[in-house]
Amino acid sequence: MKILVLNGPNLNMLGLREPAIYGAQTFQNLLEFIQKTAEEEGIQVECFQSNHEGALVDKIQEAYGVFDGIVINPGAYTHTSVALLDAVKAVSIPTVEVHISDVTQREDFRQVSYIRQACVKTYMGLGFEGYRQGMLYLKEHYN
Ligand code: DQA
Repeated sequence: MKILVLNGPNLNMLGLREPAIYGAQTFQNLLEFIQKTAEEEGIQVECFQSNHEGALVDKIQEAYGVFDGIVINPGAYTHTSVALLDAVKAVSIPTVEVHISDVTQREDFRQVSYIRQACVKTYMGLGFEGYRQGMLYLKEHYN
């Protein structure tokens, strides 16, 4: 099974970025965690991060016919991007939404997720573990 893990804007700043909310572990630590999970579970994984909405849309489109599932933390684009929603709908690849923090306990503007209506599952507030849960969910249901 091939899974694409996408991270949106500012997730490359993990470790530096608001550690009280996102923790002290770095983005490199996250990539290593995802790679280790993939090896343990027999999953082929590719990770991609961008601060640019269009680059994330391109990557989702390119996943068509290549990946069996997508795990995405769209960062702030969660709350603004119809384009990412439409991209996931367009390719019809089972997609899991992940957030490191529990967005339900945060500001009002974080209560909307456009992409959620195209996602098969959402994990939030679990830190890095949410990515692992997302990968396991896809493996269990779409392998
Ligand atoms: C986030 C939550 C978003 O609201 C925020 O804009 C992020 C990270 C999370 O992982 O908790 O960039 O997606």
